[in-house]
Amino acid sequence: MGRYAEAFRRSIADPDGFWGAAAKAIEWFPDGVLNTCFNAVDRHVRDGRAEQCALVYDSPVTGTGRTLTYRELRDEVARFAGVLRGLGVHHGDRVVIYLPMVPEAVVAMLACARIGAVHSVVFGGFAAHELALRIDDAAPKVVVSASCGIEVNRVLEYKPILDKAIQLANHTPRHCVILQRPQVTAELVPGRDVDWTEAMADAEPADCVPVAATDPLYILYTSGTTARPKGVVRDNGGHAVALRWSMEYIYDTRPGEVYWAASDIGWVVGHSYIVYAPLITGCTTILYEGKPVGTPDAGAFWRVIAEHGVKTLFTAPTAFRAIRREDPSGSHIARHDLSGFRYLFLAGERLDPETYHWANDLLGVPVIDHWWQTETGWPIAANLMGLEPRPTKPGSATVPVPGYDVRVVDGVGEPAPPGTDGEIVIGLPLPPGTLPTLWGDDERFASSYLTAHPGCYLTVMGRIDDVINVAGHRLSTGAIEQVVASHPVVAECAVIGIHDALKGQVPRAFVVLKAGTRADPAQLRDELVALVREQIGAVASVKYVDVVAALPKTRSGKILRKTMRGIAAGRNEPVPSTIDDPAALDALRPMLHSDG
Ligand code: COA
Repeated sequence: MGRYAEAFRRSIADPDGFWGAAAKAIEWFPDGVLNTCFNAVDRHVRDGRAEQCALVYDSPVTGTGRTLTYRELRDEVARFAGVLRGLGVHHGDRVVIYLPMVPEAVVAMLACARIGAVHSVVFGGFAAHELALRIDDAAPKVVVSASCGIEVNRVLEYKPILDKAIQLANHTPRHCVILQRPQVTAELVPGRDVDWTEAMADAEPADCVPVAATDPLYILYTSGTTARPKGVVRDNGGHAVALRWSMEYIYDTRPGEVYWAASDIGWVVGHSYIVYAPLITGCTTILYEGKPVGTPDAGAFWRVIAEHGVKTLFTAPTAFRAIRREDPSGSHIARHDLSGFRYLFLAGERLDPETYHWANDLLGVPVIDHWWQTETGWPIAANLMGLEPRPTKPGSATVPVPGYDVRVVDGVGEPAPPGTDGEIVIGLPLPPGTLPTLWGDDERFASSYLTAHPGCYLTVMGRIDDVINVAGHRLSTGAIEQVVASHPVVAECAVIGIHDALKGQVPRAFVVLKAGTRADPAQLRDELVALVREQIGAVASVKYVDVVAALPKTRSGKILRKTMRGIAAGRNEPVPSTIDDPAALDALRPMLHSDG
């Protein structure tokens, strides 16, 4: 039996034994408690990595950069933990982090872990309403934010968004810690807001507190089928064990090596592979405040790899599609020394074969498509480069990762025969590191994931869920629909994801006007685009809006979104027998076929 087959077999037959052995790579305090920050930072300072670079901040958008050794990172984290303490944050309290890609974001996350507080990072591209939803659900004592973010060459003020979110929310945080960036100085609310730099100057460093393995480390909100986001909970113990294991056996990346996840700390990839996995492993992690193109050009990724000696790069296929579009021949690649570059890992959305071949042909390193979700926190299926590498095949995420009993089943839970469509489920128990529940909502956890196929966890796939993937960002069409439907002339609407050559998918809205109202289509489109940007954020990327006479529905009034999606995707989608008005669907067909 090969190494992979043996590891997989053991992980399913004896999960306690398998993960018990993996848990030895994590330092536990007596009585089986631990601290994630201790494992990610202090432990390395103690064990000889104090002067090793822990974090490289590379920011083409500001033209600045900074490195922090493990010792420097520990000192900053301990001090910020002291700031949080001083603001009344204790074990189990929540802290919302709404920050751009600056080192302070990583410091704030680790500082929470250090004192057993639960962080909830909100992606900077979300607008006030979305931030308010998360503030209400997590009920943080403190919010950590900054005066601004920078998108290519635009300065985006964060503070007005935060102030508006707090105004919209029912829950009021006691304090906000604001990092003033040189580009913008935010106005602080006396008594509530605290200046990051001033607070750090006065703070007493705080030490790591022991927490139970099952205590929550963070909450990360992700889109579900309704407008209300799901708060995915991550624990401390299983998370540390799984991520450490994944670095060695999936990513083949060892202590001391340089790992770069070109993502954002607001997404799960950023949590797991910018912050926790590389630091727990004793690697150097890269925090890149820039884009694959435009900061300043399509050679940016190769510059970062060469300059910082990156061995392993992990990003979303959309980043490579953007680079390829600007530099189809890969002319920038030859200008940089990529001799230390070993692996390109891609995930977050489907890896189209064209992008796979382009990267494979030009880079000369293995291009590894792997699959996972916010809920699992680490890969479900991958080519395990540190265990037993296999030949890669475009369109395939290779094999289930040990711990994941992946099955494809039909509608009644029976194994789907090869060559037929099915639902991807994972036999319980899930491996460590995966979500134990949704924040404050065990019932929604069970109904979302565990009831469709008893004994199994249901993965979220686009085909069975109203979730779309735009430039590697997971968005809920239901949330977008709710915003579109709030426009005064809109009677009802349906939003579906359609194919986009760069972003994979983009939302397309079909709207029916209220009886007796009229609207200029171009003006309505502009208004709806603006509304979605204001309510959800620019990242929703709504561009296509069509006014139609009616939406196809079942006799009970349910809009046939799945049918619409299927037609737009060019599938021979069966029309349900319960359709009420086939003419409405026929009228839509030509538009759906035009794909935007
Ligand atoms: N804060 C504020 N606004 C943000 C933001 C942030 N952190 N991230 C994105 N936005 C804004 C963008 O500025 C853009 O605004 P615009 O419509 O006014 O131009 C909008 O949200 C859409 O952003 P995006 O979807 O990123 O599209 P883009 O056209 O700006 O860039 C890519 C396209 C491919 C270059 C970009 O998506 C990218 O770099 N992707 C990398 C993959 C990735 O990070 N995936 C995450 C999961 S691994």
